[in-house]
Amino acid sequence: MPKGKFIAFEGPDGSGKTSIIKVLGPMLEKEGVEAVFTREPGGSPIAEQIRELILDIDNTAMDYRTEALLYAASRRQHLSETILPNVQAGKMVISDRFVLSSLVYQGVARAIGLEAVWQINQFAIEDHLPDLTILIDVPADIGLERIEKARGSRQYDRLDREALAFHQRVRQTYLDLIPQWENIVVIDGNQSVEQVSLECFETLKKRGMIK
Ligand code: TYD
Repeated sequence: MPKGKFIAFEGPDGSGKTSIIKVLGPMLEKEGVEAVFTREPGGSPIAEQIRELILDIDNTAMDYRTEALLYAASRRQHLSETILPNVQAGKMVISDRFVLSSLVYQGVARAIGLEAVWQINQFAIEDHLPDLTILIDVPADIGLERIEKARGSRQYDRLDREALAFHQRVRQTYLDLIPQWENIVVIDGNQSVEQVSLECFETLKKRGMIK
């Protein structure tokens, strides 16, 4: 049985990854691709429990390094329980976020440092990296606006400046890290979900991820 492919979707919050992956599902199915859709943090029963701990808004006392370790722990479990067995079984595994998220969010946006965050993640993933990373790029104000709209908030025309600065840092870091990242493709997320999904599908074909 030939091994399957491991694809990671990355991008700032509000880039539309989750919606794009949903549209991509039926496109892949039509092509006869057996795909498994998963996400981080989470993606396996134990990793989902770690996700709840990380994203619990009542955990205000959580130290940034504790958070980074939890993301790495969740990733390890996700890799061993979901990603690797499915890739071994010949399936395409599509994960909404992977290790690049930790480098961007914990390493730079939370200022722990790229080297330290890379080290703990190396321990977690050993040498398992995606066959292809698709980065959905979107300007920070547009990403933030989409999040506010999805929340049903009427605040999106008066964007919080601190939140905007954080989103800008996240977006810029993704772009800055591209030259250091192997097998990465950037797709303009500032288009309709259908158009972006189509470009993702074509990229998967062009890059030999779909036979
Ligand atoms: P995500 O699941 O994309 O958000 P949602 O389900 O709410 O659309 O990710 C949740 C948050 O976790 C997001 O703000 C990015 C952050 N994150 C990190 O900071 N580091 C990581 O390693 C990962 C995987 C996510």
